[in-house]
Amino acid sequence: MDTNNNPEVVLSVRNLVKDFPIGQSHNKKNFMRAVNEVSFDLCKGEALAIVGESGSGKSTGARILSRIYDNTSGDIIFKGLPIEEFVKKHGRLEYARQVQMIFQDPFGSLNPVHDVFHHIARPLLIHKRANKDTITKLVYELLELVGLLPAVETAEKYPYELSGGQRQRVAIARALAVDPEVILADEPISMLDVSVRLGILNLMADLKDKHGISFMYITHDIATARYFAEKTAVMYVGHMVEWGASDRVTQTPQHPYTQLLLSAVPEAGRHGRRELDAKKGEIPLWKPDSIGCPFAARCPRVLDKCSDSFPAITEIAKDHFIRCHNI
Ligand SMILES: Nc1ncnc2c1ncn2[C@@H]1O[C@H](COP(=O)(O)OP(=O)(O)OP(=O)(O)O)[C@@H](O)[C@H]1O
Ligand SMILES: [Mg+2]
Repeated sequence: MDTNNNPEVVLSVRNLVKDFPIGQSHNKKNFMRAVNEVSFDLCKGEALAIVGESGSGKSTGARILSRIYDNTSGDIIFKGLPIEEFVKKHGRLEYARQVQMIFQDPFGSLNPVHDVFHHIARPLLIHKRANKDTITKLVYELLELVGLLPAVETAEKYPYELSGGQRQRVAIARALAVDPEVILADEPISMLDVSVRLGILNLMADLKDKHGISFMYITHDIATARYFAEKTAVMYVGHMVEWGASDRVTQTPQHPYTQLLLSAVPEAGRHGRRELDAKKGEIPLWKPDSIGCPFAARCPRVLDKCSDSFPAITEIAKDHFIRCHNI
């Protein structure tokens, strides 16, 4: 996204690519491309939603940014430094402190044999943000910040004694314990009861607005993207096909795939879901040498050239971009 008019870019990626080997492990030449030519800027105190269906490369992108995976090519720039230089200068642990990740399954990400106090205290001690004298007070403050009250009682509980929403609040408190700049939230509400989802989204919105934390918010649900995130990027088969200000992307979508996603969102006053006007084509397995637009096989507005060449980026309005031949 456009960096020129916003100096407070915290994390940028440019032309990010990730290939995974497929098939027989001895065949080192067979790869699929899970992420292709992805570029965006994450600004301070802003949320960027990454929306797309299963297998579109959302988690792979977040795992690259949290350094669980290396990228095949492309650049990651954190606070003005290429990530390699940042890590060389400040260390891997410092990058890990500043760029935290929270996951879909808060039960799986908490250790069942430890109480809540342990989960929050551990990162505080590892990152030397507390000592024996200050730790208890800091743990209680963090629990209060994420709305887990009364903090003293919550700290003594084990993960199985908490609801899904409460567990996700513990996971958020644990991420906050190290005072991060960026939180990569991979479908943080999709496993929670509908009744508690809004509470978690509002908590993240508070952390963003009042504490200046930047969020990458991964979701299948374009409606929550619009609610929570200032910017939205729509991904299809590893490619960003449309991105920009969330209002524009969700209210005046221009890419046929975004239009398809939005047509599947139930609206008040509309009975049932609108029929999807997509072709029944296969979702392609993208390879490093694949050509054309990844959506061509399902696109209702496909042109001849869509299967021959990868669409360039077009800025169709301020803060609104698509990769589509048919504009
Ligand atoms: N470690 C891996 N090894 C091989 N292939 C992988 C690996 N991780 C992801 N993939 C493949 O990369 C593609 C993108 O996967 P990814 O998990 O990033 O999708 P996603 O958008 O997060 O999907 P979901 O919404 O289901 O979580 C998929 O085809 C997946 O099978
Ligand atoms: Mg995923």
